[in-house]
Amino acid sequence: MKILITGGAGFIGKWLIEKMPPDVEVVIIDSLDEQVHRKSQDFAPELLARAKCIKADVQDIADYREAIAGTDVVIHLAAQTGTGQSMYEISRYVQQNANGTAKLLELISSLDRKPRRMVLSSSRAVYGDGAYTDGKSVLYSQGRSLENLQKGIWEVCGSDGEPLTSLPMQETHLTKPTSVYGLTKLWQEQLMQIYCESQGIDLVTLRFQNVYGPKQELGNPYTGIIGIFTNAIVQGNRLELFEDGKVTRDFVFVGDVAEAVIQCATYEQPLNSIINVGSGEAVTLIEVVETIAEVIGKKAEYNISGRFRVGDVRHAIADMERYKTLLGEWKPTSLKDGIAQYLEWYLGEEPLEQSTLEASLREMEQKGLLMKKQ
Ligand code: UD1
Repeated sequence: MKILITGGAGFIGKWLIEKMPPDVEVVIIDSLDEQVHRKSQDFAPELLARAKCIKADVQDIADYREAIAGTDVVIHLAAQTGTGQSMYEISRYVQQNANGTAKLLELISSLDRKPRRMVLSSSRAVYGDGAYTDGKSVLYSQGRSLENLQKGIWEVCGSDGEPLTSLPMQETHLTKPTSVYGLTKLWQEQLMQIYCESQGIDLVTLRFQNVYGPKQELGNPYTGIIGIFTNAIVQGNRLELFEDGKVTRDFVFVGDVAEAVIQCATYEQPLNSIINVGSGEAVTLIEVVETIAEVIGKKAEYNISGRFRVGDVRHAIADMERYKTLLGEWKPTSLKDGIAQYLEWYLGEEPLEQSTLEASLREMEQKGLLMKKQ
């Protein structure tokens, strides 16, 4: 079997390479984007040892046209991933995520022998605020208004202002992104669905929750909060929790995610499905900080700032029933074990500069995308 991985030199790609069965031939294409690959513009030795690596932007199809020939499965990971950043670098996100996917599909359409399957790394961000209930039925909110956020009303409310209870996301729930990033992921899904259906290509769309773990690029300030918070606690810096610290997220360990991707990529039967990939457990920002601090064995200094990122969702948790029905067992790594593995790796790495993080927050603030409750 030959598998092509776009964005294969990134965080999840590195784990795929580590866990890929040895009899699978792997080709990676990756632009080695400087925001992610700050330290080196070369492919890591462990990637070069296992895969054919081509430096190319997914949009520049001429650069990898030859390498894709004979591919059985394409795993499409190449994307920009910062929710906050997508709200001001709009054209870059549209270009790289939507046009990147469009170009990849154009290339595939020109092949005599097309891949039999494509696996897309999508995101829970396509659900936006997600589904809620008033105890009687499933409700979709109109989103959190800027007016409410500025008043510090953080929870999603019903039409009469009553608080609602968030539900675990099911794949059949409405998709209604609240960020440019989420919208570009939905476009990727739809482009691939239309194309794959027209060609009889089996499409597996995986909606990842917040993926974390070793190898998650530390020099990138848009890399996710497990890295940002670990960095702050280890270095003794005060960290900031947005809103009231009670935002919830579903953190899923990257090793589990890589196994799910490989299982789908190598599955014998057609799957043709959208499938959530999360731990199935929601934790608040405060709980995340406390768990990291416990693993490190240090007290966390944090400030619950009342600032908020425009485009953020309040609650996120995956319903994993479809995964279990289609693919069998799902036993995710606990947050504590995952953070312990992350920490062990982190301690051997060069930390994120506090100034880089602060600069990224200032940039968001200047663009009106990081606000404070009044
Ligand atoms: C993350 C992923 C995204 C993925 C999505 C799936 C990153 C950068 N983004 O987005 O690719 O598709 O999960 O759910 O990993 N926060 C603070 N203090 C900070 C920074 C952030 O309180 O200093 C808050 C944010 O406002 C947010 C939460 O922490 O509420 C998580 O933020 P972040 O790690 O950026 O991830 P998501 O936006 O959830």
